[in-house]
Amino acid sequence: MIKPDAVSNGHTGKIIDKIISSGFKIVAMKYTRLSEETAGRFYDIHRQRPFFKDLVDFMSSGPIVAAVLEKDNAIEDFRKLIGATDPQKAEPGTIRNLFAKSIEANAIHGSDSNENAIIEANFFFNQFERF
Ligand code: CMP
Repeated sequence: MIKPDAVSNGHTGKIIDKIISSGFKIVAMKYTRLSEETAGRFYDIHRQRPFFKDLVDFMSSGPIVAAVLEKDNAIEDFRKLIGATDPQKAEPGTIRNLFAKSIEANAIHGSDSNENAIIEANFFFNQFERF
């Protein structure tokens, strides 16, 4: 998911280009906006964290781009491509290093496991049953 900061700062095209040129195939994509309720459900796992309310406010503050990507070793390779959660710690050339400002406004989200990728894909789209 390309987050509201990156969409509103005009980085969507550059980020998609980087994803494709890194070998990922886009199999679904949607430009949309999350309500507070849907953002809360997406990040349900973080509901007890101190940053949850700010995260939900931020994630519902503007449009996002959701996508389902395919590649061998996709989870690990995508996490390398996007860089560390905190952009200050993200390797040079990673998407968060290039386009993110803070740990909250960190430009992009990637699923952290195949299981969560299926859950998150079906959050936005509804035909993903396997990987
Ligand atoms: P993301 O990969 O989308 O998953 C949860 C998000 O919570 C994370 O990226 C960050 O943008 C956000 N977040 C905000 N504050 C923190 C924090 N202190 N630690 C981890 N994640 C945080």
